[in-house]
Amino acid sequence: MRSFEPDEAELLSRLGVRVFSSDEIDQRGLGAVMSDAHAIATRGTAGFGISIDLDVIDPAEAPGVGSPVPWGLECGTLATALAEMSSDTRLIAAEIAEYNPRIDNEGQTARVAAELATALLGASETREERSGTAQLEWQYGARNYDPLPVTLVRGKGVYVWDEQDRRFLDMMSAYSAVSHGHCHPRLTQVLAQQASTLSVTSRAYRNDRLPRLFERLCEITGQEAVLPANTGLEAVEVAIKAARKWGAKVKGVPQDEVEIIACEGNFHGRSIAILAMSSESQYRDGFGPFPPGFVRIPFADAQALERAITPRTVAFLVEPIQGEGGIIVPPSGYLARCAEICRRHDVLFICDEVQTGLGRTGRMLACEHEQVKPDGLILGKALGGGLLPVSAFLARRDVMDVFRPGDHGSTFAGSALAAAVALAALDVLLEERLPERATELGDHFIRQLRAIPSPLVREVRGKGLLIGVEFKPEAVSARTVCEKLLERGVLTKDTHHTVVRFAPPLIVTRAQIDEALVIIGEVLLELGGALRSAA
Ligand SMILES: Cc1ncc(COP(=O)(O)O)c(C=O)c1O
Repeated sequence: MRSFEPDEAELLSRLGVRVFSSDEIDQRGLGAVMSDAHAIATRGTAGFGISIDLDVIDPAEAPGVGSPVPWGLECGTLATALAEMSSDTRLIAAEIAEYNPRIDNEGQTARVAAELATALLGASETREERSGTAQLEWQYGARNYDPLPVTLVRGKGVYVWDEQDRRFLDMMSAYSAVSHGHCHPRLTQVLAQQASTLSVTSRAYRNDRLPRLFERLCEITGQEAVLPANTGLEAVEVAIKAARKWGAKVKGVPQDEVEIIACEGNFHGRSIAILAMSSESQYRDGFGPFPPGFVRIPFADAQALERAITPRTVAFLVEPIQGEGGIIVPPSGYLARCAEICRRHDVLFICDEVQTGLGRTGRMLACEHEQVKPDGLILGKALGGGLLPVSAFLARRDVMDVFRPGDHGSTFAGSALAAAVALAALDVLLEERLPERATELGDHFIRQLRAIPSPLVREVRGKGLLIGVEFKPEAVSARTVCEKLLERGVLTKDTHHTVVRFAPPLIVTRAQIDEALVIIGEVLLELGGALRSAA
């Protein structure tokens, strides 16, 4: 709500209607507010409806309305929030009002209305459209994901197949976890062999595989010690614990005062402590309170780091390229500059390479592009060869030595099975020269994506085979692009509503990239053409 007639406001308050002001939306984010509104609208009811006055959108995007008022919402942001609700089967009616075609000469506002209607009606599957397993997932699963409408049943290399045996080219590779391709034969063989030899013993005992993985990881990364974990966020938690204890015990900062600096737009996972660093209101909404001791600075701004460091600062945690944040590539020299600032202030420089690491950006580690060796390094995703969750925190010996027996642990982390698969995954990366392939094919892919003439695209960016195409939010939503590509047999995923990521398995061939490029070009032409004909 931006404004009300006084008697209208009085009536609403008398009826006990919860009104969300635009100030509240600015503060908490539209996603959070809409999710509250959704909860209120669905409490004890069989159905609910949504009414949208188009003048809620900023007139720069939607000028053709009854009463344009500046500083309105972004269409893309509202469409995303509506799409979240559209999968609720209790949504039984929707209206879009306040459209004035007489002052909408170029059809700009009609396109906004169409996008909002698509978000409400078009995108998600209805109950009838959901196939057997999808319906089971909907009924019995937590609804914490909004998957694209496809159910995969098998995979091989860069391809996956759905229940109808339709083949898809995987241009997402499970957020870079499947860098080796689906079901890499050598890795599945090691998995099967180790699984039938020795799998999980806990770390109450030693196993013969893990020390070899430690050694190999240190050789490859130049780090001195490893603490194994399972998922990426667990390794990030270990990094936070290491930095805090190092700060308190080695640097001498009073324990309750230690501070870790992170960046706006970061993504390090979604545990409570990690969310304390997040700037994403939807991830945080409803999950507080969060632990103190974290400070956020703008990403890609080394001066901001220098300014934010205090005597209490123990570490700076950063992704070399922000992945979930929208494939944001910092200017070259940023990491080296940050590392130098940290060194000067006795602050640990910790790189989260869960997504960028292990060849994805064209080097084994993305920080190698700037010859930077961090004090702490976090790996995950591809370390499990696309088969198992395997992650690790690596560091200098003096940093790692803050851990004493009992300080940290995990029943499954460092199992013989995980270590055997990770060792083989590292061997395959090196032997199949996957980082080099990422450089060569990534350059080609980015160049060709940039060459596609589309009025929908704002920017193509990335490094190696971690590529993002940012779309103009007023022109098309990234989700729509992903759905169109899915229809044409290419799997991708949107991030931050406006960016579509292309991060295929690193075993992808040039021919397969070219195959995807043809489809991407056709889809953009179709969507761009649809836009032009609507205008
Ligand atoms: C940079 C980064 N750190 C941490 C994580 C969390 O990893 P996981 O999902 O395995 O917990 C992710 C996941 O996307 C990530 O991109």
